[in-house]
Amino acid sequence: MRDSLPKTIFLKDYQVPEFFIDTTDLHFTLNEDSAVVRARLAIRRNSASSSVAAELHLMGQELKLQSIAIDGQPLSKADFEVTSEFLIIPNVPDEFILESVVEILPHKNTSLEGLYKSSNLFCTQCEAEGFRKITYFLDRPDVMSVYTTTIVADRSKYPVLLSNGNNTEKGVNGDGTHWARWEDPFRKPCYLFALVAGDLECVEKGYTTLSGKNVDLKIFVEAKDTDKCDHAMSSLINAMRWDEEVYGREYDLNIFNIVAVDDFNMGAMENKSLNIFNTSCVLAKPETTTDAGFQRVEGIVAHEYFHNWSGNRVTCRDWFQLSLKEGFTVFRDAEFSSDMGSRTVKRIEDVTLLRTVQFSEDAGPMAHPIRPDSFIEISNFYTVTIYEKGAEIVRMIAHLLGEADFRKGSDLYFDRHDGQAVTCEDFVKAMEDASGKNLIQFRRWYSQAGTPLLTVSGSYDRDGRTYTLNVEQSCGPTPGQKEKEPFHIPLLMSLVSASGEIPLNILGSDDEAGRPRGEMVLDITESKQQFIFTDIPEEPVPSLLRGFSAPVKLSFDYSRDQLMFLITHDTDGFCKWDAAQQLGVRVLNDMVSFYQNDEEMLVDQRLLDAYRAILNDNDLDPAMVALILALPSEAYISELSDEVDVLAINAARKSARKIIANELQEDFWRIYKGHSNNLPYQPTCDQIARRSLKNCALDYLMLLEDGSALESCLAQFSTSSNMTDVLQAFIAIINSPHKDKKQTAIGDFYDRWENEPLVINQWFMAQALCSATGTLDDVKKLMNHAAFDITNPNKARALIGAFTSQNSVNFHQPDGSGYRFLADQIIVLNEINPQIASRLLGPLTKWRKYLPSSQQLMKVELNRILAISDLSKDVYEVVTKSLAV
Ligand code: BES
Ligand code: ZN
Repeated sequence: MRDSLPKTIFLKDYQVPEFFIDTTDLHFTLNEDSAVVRARLAIRRNSASSSVAAELHLMGQELKLQSIAIDGQPLSKADFEVTSEFLIIPNVPDEFILESVVEILPHKNTSLEGLYKSSNLFCTQCEAEGFRKITYFLDRPDVMSVYTTTIVADRSKYPVLLSNGNNTEKGVNGDGTHWARWEDPFRKPCYLFALVAGDLECVEKGYTTLSGKNVDLKIFVEAKDTDKCDHAMSSLINAMRWDEEVYGREYDLNIFNIVAVDDFNMGAMENKSLNIFNTSCVLAKPETTTDAGFQRVEGIVAHEYFHNWSGNRVTCRDWFQLSLKEGFTVFRDAEFSSDMGSRTVKRIEDVTLLRTVQFSEDAGPMAHPIRPDSFIEISNFYTVTIYEKGAEIVRMIAHLLGEADFRKGSDLYFDRHDGQAVTCEDFVKAMEDASGKNLIQFRRWYSQAGTPLLTVSGSYDRDGRTYTLNVEQSCGPTPGQKEKEPFHIPLLMSLVSASGEIPLNILGSDDEAGRPRGEMVLDITESKQQFIFTDIPEEPVPSLLRGFSAPVKLSFDYSRDQLMFLITHDTDGFCKWDAAQQLGVRVLNDMVSFYQNDEEMLVDQRLLDAYRAILNDNDLDPAMVALILALPSEAYISELSDEVDVLAINAARKSARKIIANELQEDFWRIYKGHSNNLPYQPTCDQIARRSLKNCALDYLMLLEDGSALESCLAQFSTSSNMTDVLQAFIAIINSPHKDKKQTAIGDFYDRWENEPLVINQWFMAQALCSATGTLDDVKKLMNHAAFDITNPNKARALIGAFTSQNSVNFHQPDGSGYRFLADQIIVLNEINPQIASRLLGPLTKWRKYLPSSQQLMKVELNRILAISDLSKDVYEVVTKSLAV
């Protein structure tokens, strides 16, 4: 147990800052075993603060204070107090210069927050509250300051010295060190501060904005990685152009730097003009990077770039507003990716993530609204809810307003709040003011947690030629929120018949002036509503929640034949795919019962027929075919179950895939052979689609009992020149029953890629995800492999994270060994890196979903973690909330 209970912070307690810091002048001396940070802060009392004579409380953690002075006068010990979290100075003037000198230990900083060393590189990560590990400061986003930064470091070890803004001066000292001075003209919160010092090469390109401003784009990487920067560079350029064209937002400095680092807690960080990226999110080349990797780089580069407006120029008032920048920016990057590739495919990928991971978060002990009311440790709130659900809320606003008004709204938001630290309310208000639309009820999406359930039923009246939809909404309780008020849910729908979408007229609607459309939005605002469509010539099948128009669960009691009909006839790509998912869910649930009752495992013929039809539909995008043919994941089936029977779900899905492979093998062979080609690799939408279908076919073919696909798979593994095909083949081989081939492939893969850490991470992950029994032992062995390093978040995620969050059958072993393993790792990581420890806890917190015997074992491990002393706030918060009744 911790000796003091961490404090909960509440949104309702927000107070404006008592002081402002107008300018921040920092001076870093970077030594091998420490760094000295001198700060010169121009501080001023905030006249708007109610506490007029407040003491100055500066945040600071793990800082060794060497000296402190106010207006040039050194303070003595009696003038201030230092605690583990604050520097408190009781008597300060209304306006003064505070100078402090602190020593910090970057090489011992394994939390990867604040200033730390990643191999031979000094770098920083300040969001959310890491700046307080660098110097004493008002570390809160509504305190904005103009920064100048001077860095002094050994010239040969750290030839590159970077910070935010422009490099104004530099020089060489006589003692082997050199220095550089950087000035950022934009006021910013300290979470956007960054510093880098290291031996890096840079790949460079020029960019001219629409208004004619020239910007130097530079990507700094280790010398061995300069051949992996092209994709990030072109993605950056595409993102810059897109933001100019779609949002009218230009870049505002002459320099935009990206630095790649190996050790990084997140994917990337939008520090003003000095973005810092996890190497896994910026480096890419065909030989080492999969299609998914290329797409991830494109999306993240764009995301961080877009933050320059949605996050930096207009920032958050406090961390409860995190979704203001993250939800909006995820929406922006998703739209960008849709414009660069296939909109429908991107939508299906995003919805899949939302429905599995976010819906399960929203149904569990950590559920929170996209604007939380309270937190203990803000790092725990960088969640799929804040990000993906937050993006869905912005998407709904965009649809409710329509394209033109949404653009007016975003223009107003950026213009009205440029240079300010604002709230989600300010965002919604700008959208309302610009469009004249009322979003009063819509605001509940910001304050209420949980996934609403829409229960819809339909009936056709042949004589009256009407079709009636009855819609009910409800939302279950979430921690701290028993009752929910109805949400405003835009339900995009149409009525589909064999001849297409039926024109829609609603009884009693004055909307008739317009031409009847085949598709319309029903505004669901009450707990129960009825809609009657007139002039419906034949019984239709409703196509509901088109494009996934709201982040809700939808229940409509389709017959399997109706689902078959939608798979072939729905004109909405998302609903077409979703109909196949729903049919797949029914079939898998049948099979779960067969398994539980020891009956023969049979696949409903209708699913096989639907799949066959899809495989032979030449008009479909190959990526869509692959997505439709992928059965619902174990994670999705689990999310939909009240009590997850891991073994049964795994067995059901495995048998279903085998049966599908057997039944459709000729089609799969035709596809596999037809989609193999020797075109030079490009991460284009078209090529990615073809590879995804080809590898989907290979995956199925590798399930054939006769082993007839093994040869092709081995050939693909050893001869393909792109990592997408190599890795797919590798995964298929190691999951096949051919144990000797598995061992050889594991060895060959390692030998070939041992010098590419990002590829080795894929190698760790593929093995951690192996569905064969005994994988836990393999994972434990891999933890001792020379290439494994638990202090590196990418490696911890690849092995521990992948195994515990995605390898359900092996993690949920009935003897609890998987749970014990995870708890052991969390206890180790709690000391090293609390953020990573806390994130990896996820799978244990979902204990309520599993069979009673598993629940017990999971709770035992949670309690074991809770019992350790020195438990970080991060882990404490997640463990206690997940155990709370
Ligand atoms: N601002 C975040 C990065 C961040 C979050 C740093 C929390 C420190 C603590 C950044 O903009 C971000 O959201 N990155 C995402 C990727 C993005 C594409 C959703 C990430 O790192 O996963
Ligand atoms: Zn972000």
